[in-house]
Amino acid sequence: MDSIHIQGGISLQGKVRIQGSKNAALPILAATLLTVDRSYLKNCPRISDVYAMISLLQRLGCIVVWREDGLQVDSSKVGREAMGGEAVKGMRSSLCLLGALLGRCGEVLLEHPGGCVIGERPIDLHLWALEQMGAVFLEEEGMIHGVAKELRGADIILPKPSVGATENIILAAVMARDDTCIEGAAVEPEITALCRYLQCCGASIDGVGTKRLVIHGGGPLRGAEFIVPTDRIVAGTYLLACVGAGGCILLEAAPAAEMEAVLALASQMGASCLATEEGIYVNASGYPKAVEHLITRPYPGFPTDLQSVALAVLSAAEGDSVIEESIFENRFRVAGELNRMGAKIEQLTAQRVVVHGVKRLRSAEVFAMELRGGAALVTAGLMAQGETMVAGCPYIYRGYENICRDFRELGARIVSV
Ligand code: EPZ
Repeated sequence: MDSIHIQGGISLQGKVRIQGSKNAALPILAATLLTVDRSYLKNCPRISDVYAMISLLQRLGCIVVWREDGLQVDSSKVGREAMGGEAVKGMRSSLCLLGALLGRCGEVLLEHPGGCVIGERPIDLHLWALEQMGAVFLEEEGMIHGVAKELRGADIILPKPSVGATENIILAAVMARDDTCIEGAAVEPEITALCRYLQCCGASIDGVGTKRLVIHGGGPLRGAEFIVPTDRIVAGTYLLACVGAGGCILLEAAPAAEMEAVLALASQMGASCLATEEGIYVNASGYPKAVEHLITRPYPGFPTDLQSVALAVLSAAEGDSVIEESIFENRFRVAGELNRMGAKIEQLTAQRVVVHGVKRLRSAEVFAMELRGGAALVTAGLMAQGETMVAGCPYIYRGYENICRDFRELGARIVSV
């Protein structure tokens, strides 16, 4: 299943249930290493990043089994020898194993995740913060070797919000000897979900949802049953796709309370959205309005992970829009592929483009180069007249359980081959 074929120009109708959140599930899976028995994660998304994390956990000694509506993880057999090494290679979201393995085993050997298409993705804040807690790191031949004879609590002031660094500090701090205070913590909903899971496991954390977290150490933790929240980025993808293609849809279980910035953008673009207990109803003409200036921001600002999809939709808006990417240094790679579909996207600087809206995109053969850019190309294919082929779909399957199934439930003519 390497490419997706879309017969575009059809408005969307129907309803689709939103999957569990990739960016909540991954740190929570790492956190199961801190428990000495079994956890059950309901609504865990069946995506390739989760499968990759599962295989890492299994190589570290966890027993992992899919049940009918979730994932069972038994971490009772994880021993000191399970510090990573050969196991923890090849996936950047394994970075959250740094804090978890230091917490569980006092040692970790992790392949340096390196950069990716969207940016350099440094980990200096992760290492600096964990060193404040007593960890010592050696970087050798592309590997990071961390040791912490005993993790101690610390007062950590993060100079800028980092989701991953905040997660790693929390994962180490719950096992530390005493209290850790994080000032400047990221406040993305995925951080809250991680803290809620850890609290279900017996951890004591104050200030959840705020930029000041106090984690009372002491571990180890018992397992817990937990429902992974639904994915605000997947829901936002489908919401913006409806703004671009037009239609009337229901996004069942979409976390509207976490999507204010996305809902505000959709309204600026002329769509009407209604959040109810069932989810989010979206009604759009398919002729979106341009927006003067869209800038991505840490939560609760407009999420960087929806910038590419917004770029695709604004490509066929009435008028010109300026989009600024303030989080990652190279997140406009998809503009080239969108321009091959007739978009008129002009790059002003590395982090700012102007989109001259065109009447309609045209179908083409395009190539996904990373996860959210791939979702943007599928969105563009739904908007364009004719048949679009998107190659490189394994990138998309990293974060979307089944984007073709979901869009077919919304009436699109789309298949993966
Ligand atoms: C998480 O990445 C998400 N990934 C990303 O989603 C998301 O785009 C990002 O947060 C921002 O919301 C997961 O949760 C698995 P950061 P993360 O640390 O933790 C800089 C997707 O598509 N920084 O908040 O890596 C960094 O370069 C992915 O699902 C440092 O300088 O993001 C960036 O400019 C893509 N030093 C900014 O901070 C560090 O040590 C925010 O990055 C760490 C980060």
